[in-house]
Amino acid sequence: MRRPIPLKLAYRLIGPGPVILVSSLFNKRPAITPIAWHMPVSDDPPIIALEIWEGHFLYKAILQTGDFVINIPSSRMAGTVCKLGSISGSRADKFKKFRLVKEASNEVKSPRLASAIGIIECRLRREKRLLDKYNVVLGDAVYAEAEKGAFSDRWLPEKAGPRIMHHLGGKIFYEPARRAF
Ligand SMILES: Cc1cc2nc3c(=O)[nH]c(=O)nc-3n(C[C@H](O)[C@H](O)[C@H](O)COP(=O)(O)O)c2cc1C
Repeated sequence: MRRPIPLKLAYRLIGPGPVILVSSLFNKRPAITPIAWHMPVSDDPPIIALEIWEGHFLYKAILQTGDFVINIPSSRMAGTVCKLGSISGSRADKFKKFRLVKEASNEVKSPRLASAIGIIECRLRREKRLLDKYNVVLGDAVYAEAEKGAFSDRWLPEKAGPRIMHHLGGKIFYEPARRAF
């Protein structure tokens, strides 16, 4: 079970750089795509940047819908993340194909991934120069939640339970192992 967290802390859900699954909608078809290139831009107001290739179904969906959801998968989903990154939502509904459960978002039209351990709902900021030149999608975070026990005011990798994962390249991911300091 997740609980709402303050938006000022939303950037800490992705601050360590976990791989994320970004969802949106295009002509009522859901999009869900793994994204490793992302970063917090500001904590107040909370703004997050994603780098999305313009040929991706997800990119078209975000431009049409005007919002998106950052779903943080647990490391148990590594295999599914690879599969989601190997086909395009323009050819298949990836939620259906990989038996992923959708749920309605609180503040945006885009659907959320029910099994995510963290959620950030975002509204697209239409920064024309960044979009046109670099495909940098900026989102204003409008709602966030995180799995109880896995996130307090930060992720808790030192605890047993679901963990975020980082992408090293290809099909290699790692979990943060323990607290260093
Ligand atoms: C772990 C992982 C990370 C990825 N990161 C990005 C990324 O940051 N930006 C991007 O444009 N594509 C990224 N991709 C590629 C897309 O996820 C992939 O091409 C996907 O099939 C596009 O789906 P779509 O057309 O349904 O949007 C990544 C793929 C994987 C597996």
